[in-house]
Amino acid sequence: MIKPLHLGNKTFPVNIIQGPLAGVSCAPFRFLTWKYGKPAFSCTEMISCKALLNKPKKLYHRYIAKDPNEGPICYQLFGNNPEELATATEIITDYGADLIDLNCGCPVKKVRRQGAGSSLLSDAPKLYKMICAMKQNTGLPVSVKIRVEGNGEEKFNLDIAKAISDAGADFLVVHGRRWTEHYETPVHHDQIQFFVEQMKIPVIGNGDIFCVNSLKKMLATGCAGVMLARAGVGQPWLTQKLIAEINQQPFISPTPKEIGSIFLEHVRLLIELFGEERFAILQARKLIKYYARGLHNKKDLCIDVYACNDLDTLINICLNYFT
Ligand SMILES: Cc1cc2nc3c(=O)[nH]c(=O)nc-3n(C[C@H](O)[C@H](O)[C@H](O)COP(=O)(O)O)c2cc1C
Repeated sequence: MIKPLHLGNKTFPVNIIQGPLAGVSCAPFRFLTWKYGKPAFSCTEMISCKALLNKPKKLYHRYIAKDPNEGPICYQLFGNNPEELATATEIITDYGADLIDLNCGCPVKKVRRQGAGSSLLSDAPKLYKMICAMKQNTGLPVSVKIRVEGNGEEKFNLDIAKAISDAGADFLVVHGRRWTEHYETPVHHDQIQFFVEQMKIPVIGNGDIFCVNSLKKMLATGCAGVMLARAGVGQPWLTQKLIAEINQQPFISPTPKEIGSIFLEHVRLLIELFGEERFAILQARKLIKYYARGLHNKKDLCIDVYACNDLDTLINICLNYFT
C-alpha cells in the first residue's frame, strides 16, 4: 500500500524512495526524479568518508552538489573508521542533507578490502560503533543499507539486526541479495521479511522492483516502504506510474518525443553542473539505453549515441529517433 513514511523525526508523503546508483545519482538525475516522480526522497551515490575529509573540492560536482529545486536527499557514506564517519556525518549534515545512510552492501573488492561496504556485515561490533558514530553527530534520520546473508534463520542476520537496533538506527534498507550474488539472482523476499519481523524500526525493501507486480511482491514482505534503483534510470516518472497503477488509476506514460526531451534535459543539466560537454556526453552514452527502453529501434539509436561527441549532434540524433 502507498502510505506516508515515518523515518526518525521526518515524515514523507509516500513510501517509495529512489535508491543510490554509483555513476548516475548526481544532482541532475535526482532533480528529474523529483520533477517527474516525486518519491519520498532520492539518494546520492556512495561517498567515501576518507575522500570527504581529505579532498572535499574534488568530490563536489559528482557527489555533493544539490539542485536548488530538487526534493529531499539522503546522502550515503561509506567507510570503515567510526571517527572518520563521525566527522563525515557532521560535514554532510551541515551541507544540508535530509537523511544520512551508511553503505553496508557494496560488494566491490576495493571497498570490501578496506573493511567497508558489505564487509561490515561480518563485523557486527564494528557496525554497531559506526552507527553510534553517526547518531552522535547528527539530528537527522540515520539509516543503514545492507545486503542479506545465509538464510533468514541464521545467526548472522540476527547479529546484524541486533547491532543496527541497539545502535539506534532510524531505519533499515535491505537489498535482498547476498553480496556474492549478481543481479541475475532474484531477490530473496523471504530474507527481507525476516528483517521486517525482527526489527522495530521501519524496514525498506529493495531489489527488482520495476513494475506494479514486483512492487506488490515487495510490499507483501510487510516492509514500510520500498526503494527503486535501476528501474528509475531513464524513467524518472516511475514513482508516479507505480502509485497510479497500484491505486488502479490511469497513468499516461510520456510519449517517445517527451522521453527524448527529458533525456536531453538530463544531458543539459549535466553540462550545466560539470561546466563542460565532454563529461555529459560520456554520461549520455551510458544513459541512452535506459531512456530508449521502449523504442523499437533502440539498438540503432544507442549505436549513434555511442559515436556522438557533442550536444548538437546528440540533439539531431534524438530528433531522428524519439518521434
Ligand atoms: C550501477 C549501480 C550502482 C550502484 N551504486 C550503489 C551505491 O552507490 N550505493 C548503494 O548502496 N547501492 C548501489 N547500488 C545498488 C542499488 O542501490 C540497489 O540496491 C540494487 O541495484 C538492487 O535494486 P534494483 O534491483 O531495483 O536495481 C548500485 C547498483 C548498480 C546497478
